[in-house]
Amino acid sequence: MDKQKLIMLPGPTNVSDRVMHAMLGPVINHRGDAFRELYKGVLAKTKHFFQTEGEVVIFSSSGTGGVEAAVWNLIRPGDVAVVPVFGEFSNRLAETVELAGGKAIRVASEFGKVPSLDQLRTAMEKQGTFKALFLVHNETSTGVAAPYVEEASKLARDHGALSVIDAISSLGGYAIPVDRWGVDMCITGSQKCIAAPPGLSLLSVSNRALDFLKTSPPKTRYFEIPRYVEYGARGETPFTPALPLIYALDEALSELLEEGFSARVTRHDRMSAKIYDGLAAMGLSFVAEKSVRSKTVIASYYPQGVDDAKFRKALAHDKGVVIAGGFGPFAGKVFRVGCMGQINEGYVKTTMEAISETLAVFRN
Ligand SMILES: Cc1ncc(COP(=O)(O)O)c(C=O)c1O
Repeated sequence: MDKQKLIMLPGPTNVSDRVMHAMLGPVINHRGDAFRELYKGVLAKTKHFFQTEGEVVIFSSSGTGGVEAAVWNLIRPGDVAVVPVFGEFSNRLAETVELAGGKAIRVASEFGKVPSLDQLRTAMEKQGTFKALFLVHNETSTGVAAPYVEEASKLARDHGALSVIDAISSLGGYAIPVDRWGVDMCITGSQKCIAAPPGLSLLSVSNRALDFLKTSPPKTRYFEIPRYVEYGARGETPFTPALPLIYALDEALSELLEEGFSARVTRHDRMSAKIYDGLAAMGLSFVAEKSVRSKTVIASYYPQGVDDAKFRKALAHDKGVVIAGGFGPFAGKVFRVGCMGQINEGYVKTTMEAISETLAVFRN
């Protein structure tokens, strides 16, 4: 087995020993009292995380499962959805809407930027009525965060549409108070800013979205949200849960609550600023425009001539630091550093030194 390295990916990210050990809890009956007590506690903590009085559901799936769930629960053939597209994940979201038989109105911007709120407003006005806005909050492929979740959700609501936010790589590093901001569904994954292992997706659901689902049941079984809400009320899941991951999530959310939500967000602010400053001091530039730079994913261009695969291999092998490469048009040109979950001064220092020393070898 590989020795544990410092995982500075944009997810999965480093997991504390406390959370890893939690997964050694006993195998128990998921229809018994011990599980119900555990799961009710997890749901309560998850509601706190989303800052909601509404419902939350947890799927045994990676983040993509949560995105599929949101789309297949809300979109019926012929429905129109507005989808800002500014990178790989938002493009995938538009495609998922189309796979479900919907029509995606893509509001695009150059990668590294984000479509403006005015562009969204214009697209929505042109469309008149539509079913939903599907917005990726944090484009993990470019390291760009949309700075207008609240405003865009309000615009959607003004058009009678639902607002769905993919906050998979941001919630926890950013606060998204879903009730206050009028977000109908918000999706995240266990392996990012929650700092639990990969394998769970978490989704908040507003009463407005649930009311719609009552009148129009979705055509999906595993991701049927109303069924999860019904079972969740008694501390159960409709299907067999990934028990070790539920133990881990419980512990990771306890860690988060002990630290305090706003303290965690502030820590992400501080650590990402250090990463941006550190890389800029090495003469590197970023994919994201300054005003929309993500606090959880830093996408930086390689200096001329540095081979992506060789650089990242040396970084992992010689320095024990794992970072990600670029996506799509950025493959080979960009590396991405995650600033998530357990991120701290020590991790940032180790990573900056490792990148600087390895670049010095490859630049020559
Ligand atoms: C914004 C965004 N959406 C969706 C996904 C897909 O999540 P997963 O790989 O957990 O299925 C990711 C993964 O990085 C992401 O960053």
